[in-house]
Amino acid sequence: MTTATSGPARQSEVSFFVAMVATIAAIGGGLFGYDTGVISGAILYIKKEFPIDDATEGLIVGAVTLGALVAALGAGVVADRSGRRVTNIAAGIVFAVASLLCAAANSVPTLVAGRFLVGCGIGFTSVGGPMYIAEASPARIRGTFVSLFQLAVTVGILLAYIVASVFAPAAAWRWMLGLAMVPGVFLAVGMAFMPESPRWLVKQGRRRDARAVLVQIDPHGDPDAELARLERDLAAEGQGTWSELLERALRPALLVGIGLAVFQQVTGINAVIYYAPQIFLAAGFRSDVTSLAATTGIGIINVLATFIAIWLVDRAGRRPLLICGVLGMVATLVVLGLAFRGGAAGAAARNLGLITVVCLAAYIVFFAFSLGPIVWLMISEIYPLRNRAQAVAVSTASNWGANFLVSLTFPVMTTRLGAPVTFFTYAALGVLTLVFVLTRVPETKGKTLEEITGFWR
Ligand code: BGC
Repeated sequence: MTTATSGPARQSEVSFFVAMVATIAAIGGGLFGYDTGVISGAILYIKKEFPIDDATEGLIVGAVTLGALVAALGAGVVADRSGRRVTNIAAGIVFAVASLLCAAANSVPTLVAGRFLVGCGIGFTSVGGPMYIAEASPARIRGTFVSLFQLAVTVGILLAYIVASVFAPAAAWRWMLGLAMVPGVFLAVGMAFMPESPRWLVKQGRRRDARAVLVQIDPHGDPDAELARLERDLAAEGQGTWSELLERALRPALLVGIGLAVFQQVTGINAVIYYAPQIFLAAGFRSDVTSLAATTGIGIINVLATFIAIWLVDRAGRRPLLICGVLGMVATLVVLGLAFRGGAAGAAARNLGLITVVCLAAYIVFFAFSLGPIVWLMISEIYPLRNRAQAVAVSTASNWGANFLVSLTFPVMTTRLGAPVTFFTYAALGVLTLVFVLTRVPETKGKTLEEITGFWR
């Protein structure tokens, strides 16, 4: 952007507005984390109120992921036609209604429907949130601001652990699920006061509106020059269609987006996030209380380590963080696999608990500054504006599909194949992720979204 004034005052003014935009949009990330995390506590009490079999339990837990998968695709249509802001408002409304429905559910089908709807909210926010923040942020701080979305996801997961333990003595599962209504309303109302993404406005030919938003983003910049740059860079863009996703030109970008989305999941993150208490019990923790405390510790580490990405993603860049993080994840998974193998044979049984805590904590740190935030960031920055909404939607849906698969297969894999083979499998997929990052993923640090799009031409 051309600068009329420069220096720290201007910088902080730009950052303040974008930080506000990013913070409001990131509430959706908080709900994403909260609603995926809270069910592990709530389900214990739901089971006491409704007599359900294992399959129905799986349905109540898994309905969120399926809802997110389906809604991610729908969010692509809404984000493209009605705008990024509307997509986030819709997410807030859906979250609020769905949380109420879950809290008031008097039958299993209503509860499953409520959880599916919660998933729809998550699908909308995971497409609309990062994309909106990325399109509203100046290039030099885009990574930091989009990483706020992931920070919110981790805070949401932690809050879910805390809320679940606070309401556990009263078995108040309706409160656990219903509380998410409050941030849902904040998201919808907050987004109603936010401006639309300037890039989407340019795409719609609404140049006066786009200029007004550019002034808000950078009050001391040169909105006309920025508008002219966007119009020039986007001149050839126009309205995209879903079928264009199959065209050759988009393939390299789609490969990176879908690849990152799938690798984020198949390296096992949600085996840890969803099943940490069971892993700790298997490692020799004696009571539910200590294993739940250790799980809360994992949640805290997840939040704290995300700050490493917030701090470094626009300084060191995306690739170095991805490479270090995935290397670390592979190493900890291998140690974990070896420890469980030794533990099962009796040799390392005494140390297994300690090794497990250290390895899972380290694994979470490595994930939290790499695949966690950077996948959502890169999905929202690598696609050309013309097809961005559709391509982000497909990548996000792949993420939820892979998430569903891992959550479904983890218990079966540990029982049938054993914990060591399960962890070694995630480690092997981590090695593939590393090769993928090294050979396919470009560095996008400091580049405008339009420059990034140029990589694929
Ligand atoms: C992933 C979620 C995961 C969370 C953990 C997100 O980036 O998409 O699947 O549960 O990170 O912090």
